Amino acid sequence: MGHRQIESDAYKAAKKSNKLCYREFSEVPKHDNFLAYIGDLANLFSGASLTDNANTGVVKLADGRVVCLTETIKGSIVIDPNTLDTLEKFEYSDSWGGLIHSAHPIVTDSEFLTLLPDLLNPGYMVARMDPGTNERKVIGRVDCRGGPSPGWVHSFPVTEHYVIVPEMPLRYCAKNLLKAEPTPLYKFRWCPESKGFMHVMCKASGKIVSYLLWQLFILENSVISYFKICRKCVEIHVSDAFPTKKRFPWKYVGNFQTFSNEIVDHVIPTPQAAVQRIVKQSFKGRGYDTSPNFQKVASVEVPLFVTFHFINAYEEKDEEGRIIGVIADCCEHYADTTILDNLRLQNLRSWGGEDVLPDARVGRFRIPLDGSEKGELYAALNPDEHGRGMDMCSINPNFLGKQYRYAYACGAQRPCNFPNTLTKIDLVEGTAKNWYDEGAVPSEPYFVARPGATEEDDGVVISMISDKNGEGYALILDGTTFEEIARAKFPYGLPYGLHGCWVPKN
Ligand SMILES: [Fe+2]
Repeated sequence: MGHRQIESDAYKAAKKSNKLCYREFSEVPKHDNFLAYIGDLANLFSGASLTDNANTGVVKLADGRVVCLTETIKGSIVIDPNTLDTLEKFEYSDSWGGLIHSAHPIVTDSEFLTLLPDLLNPGYMVARMDPGTNERKVIGRVDCRGGPSPGWVHSFPVTEHYVIVPEMPLRYCAKNLLKAEPTPLYKFRWCPESKGFMHVMCKASGKIVSYLLWQLFILENSVISYFKICRKCVEIHVSDAFPTKKRFPWKYVGNFQTFSNEIVDHVIPTPQAAVQRIVKQSFKGRGYDTSPNFQKVASVEVPLFVTFHFINAYEEKDEEGRIIGVIADCCEHYADTTILDNLRLQNLRSWGGEDVLPDARVGRFRIPLDGSEKGELYAALNPDEHGRGMDMCSINPNFLGKQYRYAYACGAQRPCNFPNTLTKIDLVEGTAKNWYDEGAVPSEPYFVARPGATEEDDGVVISMISDKNGEGYALILDGTTFEEIARAKFPYGLPYGLHGCWVPKN
């Protein structure tokens, strides 16, 4: 085994001057005088004083490059997966700029998707990058429905067709970002009055469409033959599905703001629920044409929530295979920000044996695509199954965006002040299998499928463990039974490792 430090500018500067020199996630440099503080602020606006310490996660891009990442865009650093040498900064060749992005992009063999929060005009750019390039192409934009700034997006989920953009009421806060001392919520603020939302964006078109389009979509005997929608204009062409009734063609070209009233006045004479009923009766089994241009997507209000890590998401279909909703699961800390304060190093070190780890659960969002304005949030299984601890999750990567059964995460054996177990969640049975070693602190358990496997949990789960004596080992668990297969002791102790990544030799 080997280990190397990522040789970021922040790391090299700290080594040279023996102190923190850049603004880190939870720490800021101590300034010798007021002038130095002013200089630091000036550098903040350009991003120069932000850290490039890529200590959050590591991903293997489809083109083979291995990149270490953090919340700052400049903290994207390419390493050699064999020697672990720091190779170079990952420089984006596009002109989207910005200082921060989601620390956890979605990376597959064909895709790299990320979110870029827009702090000035609250919203998120959804961007894709093709393998072999350094150019992000923006698919679309989500405007925030709450404010005054975008919610923190440490991670986000995707389904086969959609990118799910969470708008969490824990929002970025420019004022806290500028402070000389870390605030209780670091660079964020808790804004329950701003509410929480989940937005569903079509990967192909980049569109977020109002629920009114769904109402139109389900009009009796209608087919949408063309539609175009942007923030300022709407153009929809509707024709008859069954021309004998001669109700259409109908065309709407106009302003998005007045769109809803005109549609309701001129086309939909019945309340939405009644229309849906009519459609269900009259369209069942009649080969309804859903026009390839029409993307059913949604933006719904959800209960207040706090999460860092989404686990997975997938599309819900009715018996005829039509997409009727989206399920998105996350490691949820309820609507409670105390976890941010509890995980401070001094709080962890001063632990006296009390049970102080805040409760967490697998929070399951259900986002309906039938025009409803609200989504649901509930526990996907009884949180007692995993000791009411839940974070640092992974799944079998082959099930990304698809209906899945198993998730792996860090859970809790109480009393504790930190997630101290590994847990395998069965979302179908609503049960969990747990691994625990007294005093051990496990990092993210990541699943590696057995070559040729067909079962979802056929493989191993690997986690780097810091044990109670300060030493460490790599733990390998059987993905199916969750029994220990092996542990490889490190020749030295390692600090807590956050996220991991499996990079096959070939
Ligand atoms: Fe993370």
